[in-house]
Amino acid sequence: MSTDNLRVAVVGAGQMGADHVRRITAKISNADVVAIVEPDQGRAAAAAALAPGAIAAASFDEALDATAIDAVIIATPGFLHEPILVTALERGLMVLCEKPLTTLAEDSLRIVELEQQHASRPVIQVGFMRRFDAGYKELLALRESGANGALLALHHAHRNPTTPPNYGEDMLIKDSVIHEIDIIPFLTGEPIMSVEVKKPRSNSLAPAGLPEPQFVLFTTESGVLAIVEISVNVQFGYQVTTEAVFESGVAYIGRETSQTVVSAGLSAQPITPSYKERFSAAYDEEVQRWVDAARGGGIDGPSAWDGYTASVVAEVAVRAQQTGALEPVEYAVTKPTFYDEVFAVAAGDRA
Ligand SMILES: NC(=O)c1ccc[n+]([C@@H]2O[C@H](COP(=O)([O-])OP(=O)(O)OC[C@H]3O[C@@H](n4cnc5c(N)ncnc54)[C@H](O)[C@@H]3O)[C@@H](O)[C@H]2O)c1
Repeated sequence: MSTDNLRVAVVGAGQMGADHVRRITAKISNADVVAIVEPDQGRAAAAAALAPGAIAAASFDEALDATAIDAVIIATPGFLHEPILVTALERGLMVLCEKPLTTLAEDSLRIVELEQQHASRPVIQVGFMRRFDAGYKELLALRESGANGALLALHHAHRNPTTPPNYGEDMLIKDSVIHEIDIIPFLTGEPIMSVEVKKPRSNSLAPAGLPEPQFVLFTTESGVLAIVEISVNVQFGYQVTTEAVFESGVAYIGRETSQTVVSAGLSAQPITPSYKERFSAAYDEEVQRWVDAARGGGIDGPSAWDGYTASVVAEVAVRAQQTGALEPVEYAVTKPTFYDEVFAVAAGDRA
């Protein structure tokens, strides 16, 4: 371990947390995992084995008392993010918080307010990793170039092979479509202003009581329509695609994630089994850029403000699932200038 490296605590060592421990240890420069906070002893031990020298602690406070920590990756379930965010802000730590920032919009707004009280510039980055995916960066560059005229509409497909136990209908929005809720303003440069949910004939392979697929229709400020198909029991693998409709052109991303093999009368391409493989390069870039920015006291990606606006839209989308009506989106406050200049991905370096 180098003393100049960012000393990172990973809180929650489940699917995402363990993946981040592995990533930082094996791939990321200038950072060390110094503490793993995980109540499940088996998972704690497995994660600690990936990060030699890291301490295992039962709580974040215990880790903070035991060793010097500069930064924290929050990878607990979403409903546990808020208290860890508050402690991190009070201790002056840099934060990479897995999505969602918090599960309730009012809690996200409290975090936005608290961050402005405790820090002179944004210190919380939210783990919306699609903004680091090459395809989405290219799509943003194409829209901003104006080469094909204005962007009119987006077709998103978000397909998961199966659902874990206890996956409820609201999780279609809160766990899955939340990524499109972030990427739509990123691609369009505009906030989402309304949401409607359509439920076609249900997939018989879905667990009883889970009506899916669903189509979530978002409209942005200038009227760009973004339609998201969320399907979570497609069996064949994990697939995330976007088709952008411009005035004089169309662009597709996500259909080809590796080579196509033409043989024996078939043109075939493997489907990624999960989000980890589909967005592997995006996670790597997200974490490396966060580490580099955090060492200088800043962030380089979606901010707590982006986390707040996503929470607002997600709440409205869950309401729209229940009402079947076109639901307007209202944000309680306008974007504070504090959040104006934090996202280098949006300002350049999109190759
Ligand atoms: N960016 C993405 O693509 C992506 C993908 C999956 C999950 N996530 C997000 O990552 C977070 C974790 O999801 P996951 O799939 O890894 O869940 P998980 O259930 O696999 O892991 C969560 C871990 O947190 C631990 N935990 C519970 N309470 C804790 C506490 N008080 N302190 C420390 N650890 C605690 C649990 O024991 C578990 O090991 C969630 O916010 C989720 O939405 C993001």
